[in-house]
Amino acid sequence: MGQMRAALYDRYGGPEVLYEGTVPRPDIGPGDALVRVHAASVNGGELLGRAGGLRLLTGAIERGFPKRTGIDFTGEVVEVGSDVVGVEPGARVWGGLPRTFGSAAEYVAVRPRQFALAPTGTDLVEAASLLAGGTTAITALRDKARLAPGERLLVRGASGGVGNVAVQLGRAYGAHVTGLARADNLDFVRDLGADEAFDYANTGAADLPPFDVVLDTVGTGMAAYRRRLTRNGRMVSVTFDSERMLASLSYIAASAVFGRRRIRAFSGNPGHGLFAELTRLTESGALRPVVDRVLPLADIAQAHRALETGGVRGKVLVSVAGTDA
Ligand SMILES: NC(=O)c1ccc[n+]([C@@H]2O[C@H](COP(=O)([O-])OP(=O)(O)OC[C@H]3O[C@@H](n4cnc5c(N)ncnc54)[C@H](OP(=O)(O)O)[C@@H]3O)[C@@H](O)[C@H]2O)c1
Repeated sequence: MGQMRAALYDRYGGPEVLYEGTVPRPDIGPGDALVRVHAASVNGGELLGRAGGLRLLTGAIERGFPKRTGIDFTGEVVEVGSDVVGVEPGARVWGGLPRTFGSAAEYVAVRPRQFALAPTGTDLVEAASLLAGGTTAITALRDKARLAPGERLLVRGASGGVGNVAVQLGRAYGAHVTGLARADNLDFVRDLGADEAFDYANTGAADLPPFDVVLDTVGTGMAAYRRRLTRNGRMVSVTFDSERMLASLSYIAASAVFGRRRIRAFSGNPGHGLFAELTRLTESGALRPVVDRVLPLADIAQAHRALETGGVRGKVLVSVAGTDA
């Protein structure tokens, strides 16, 4: 069995625990495709996982070190198992791993239900910026909030990985979009298609008008934003306050007593249908990739540090070009 390069860490800690190491190249089963990875994105949940912050939630299924990073991938199919139909070597694809980390590596072995054809005319590295954010934004706005044309949408964290796609998608769905971001990113958020953008440092929930849909990608102070909902308003949260995890998760669960105005939370596990919809939206021009920076796999620690530092516009990506180990 061959070896491949992958992003690894041997203990929980800061970005410095990450390194590029070598692991066995995955074997494919009869139902799998082997994909040579071009890029993976860096996501907030991975930073928390690497720091050990998810042990409370994942403790029961914790496996040992070294651990891997990366949840999504763009790449090229290089081999398919004997049971796979309709996917050929050479196909340009994008997708995600099923609730596991490990796409920041040269290869992934995945079922075809985990990916779709990547959009034509889009660079395969840049495209990776749309995967986690895009599938999350579609689930939140289309499926959970059922955002309708003409409704007023607030996106908290509008310049981030999920937020930048949510602003673009909200616009494509015909909503009036308001974004909250840091002062230097307000023009950027308006360029994405927001009708209005406000600095979160000096704009509180109480300073804002009512909204039909609030998409929260931040997790702090959720109660104040829920109070901004119109009578039939929907609030969707994709995260929680990691400093006050139990209180934050309890608040989301307890919000069920508010009926229609409860907080709709979910943990995404996107499959073929969502990736195919993302391809359609990208090819139609509704969505464009927004790349803050691309770093090689060897600089995985720097990639995590960049997202942890904040101020990122769109996505930090890890590119996995190069020769086999
Ligand atoms: N449930 C799911 O399926 C799912 C899927 C994807 C992501 N997530 C989670 O969703 C969260 C966001 O992910 P992401 O990839 O979009 O992360 P991200 O790129 O770091 O985006 C978060 C954004 O929030 C902004 N922000 C920070 N404090 C704020 C405040 N007080 N008010 C308004 N905005 C504020 C940040 O702006 P500055 O950096 O400029 O301060 C940043 O742009 C993470 O916790 C991630 O784990 C969940």
